[in-house]
Amino acid sequence: MYAVYDIAGVREEIDSGDFPTETNSMWRYSQLLPVKSPSYIISLGEGWTPLLHSRHLGKHLGLRMLRIKDEAQNPTGSFKDRGLCAAVSKNLELGAKSFALPSAGNAAVSTSAYSAAAGVPAHIFMPDNTPEPFFESCKLFGAETVRVSGTISDAGQEMRRRNKNWMDLSTTKEPYRVEGKKTLGFEISEQMSWSVPDAIICPTGGGTGIIGIWKAFDELEALGLIGSERPRMYAAQSGGCAPIVRAIEKGTDNLEPWVNGETLALGLHVPSPFAGRLILNAIRRSGGGAVAVADQDIEPIRRMTGKLEGLDICPESAVGIAGLRNLIESGTIDYDEEVVLLNTGGGERYTNVK
Ligand SMILES: Cc1ncc(COP(=O)(O)O)c(C=O)c1O
Repeated sequence: MYAVYDIAGVREEIDSGDFPTETNSMWRYSQLLPVKSPSYIISLGEGWTPLLHSRHLGKHLGLRMLRIKDEAQNPTGSFKDRGLCAAVSKNLELGAKSFALPSAGNAAVSTSAYSAAAGVPAHIFMPDNTPEPFFESCKLFGAETVRVSGTISDAGQEMRRRNKNWMDLSTTKEPYRVEGKKTLGFEISEQMSWSVPDAIICPTGGGTGIIGIWKAFDELEALGLIGSERPRMYAAQSGGCAPIVRAIEKGTDNLEPWVNGETLALGLHVPSPFAGRLILNAIRRSGGGAVAVADQDIEPIRRMTGKLEGLDICPESAVGIAGLRNLIESGTIDYDEEVVLLNTGGGERYTNVK
């Protein structure tokens, strides 16, 4: 179930020049975010990240113009801050007194930081192969952290077993994380003077990113800020856990869980995304696709991106770049097309691939 807005009311505000605001965070779009009373907004300055023009990487891959949405510049270093800022704020407004979630790392750090800022406890469940710096950051923000043997699905099971009326912020199981992620789509379009690129490359695990961005364009169209044009949405996954790619290739609506998967891109290790149908729907309606890449490409691509762009990217973003390279090589994306690549987070905490 999605949050819905009084689009006609927002449209009137736009006509009077009040949208978006001058705020340099995702709250510039507050009329299209779910929090009603501003006193509940727990902001650490998330969003309004730069849409960088790639200097060298795009040309190296065979593109005239590549833009990189640099989500590593969010308060805790990843795009998870958008969703969790919105979810913590809205659920506080609805009366939540504590939060819990299973996470592969970045969402855990975000939840811990926003819960700390809100002054409420956070309970974090992470697979035991999550690099130590993620645990350390969560602890620094005062969260209870639990190590669980297995994948994020096992961490979720353990959280539900122990849950003591904590508000569950698991990916796509409550509606507000998607609302925060949606602002990525607003920003990409606004930073391109209210147009859309030809293609967006999203490293995809649980799918809030791709689902949120897709929702943004429908709202912008309803507001008259863009027309019916849409970017092709491409999900990039590791070949070590690629349930979305498999479902797209098979042309099915049913996501089979990916059994015994493994990948260095820990945030993409989601064997059975809860919102699989929404992800597949966004990809198919956009005319895009899904691409799987080899894990051994991750480290070389991180090093290459560091050298070519001066960016320390996370392994998930390296999967996105490897996916983009495959799409260019196969002729699916052309030299002249405008492509936006999400750098979903920084690489500093990933001691597993250093
Ligand atoms: C850095 C990074 N990129 C991408 C993803 C995948 O995001 P989503 O679950 O929204 O598909 C994650 C999820 O943990 C992540 O941490």
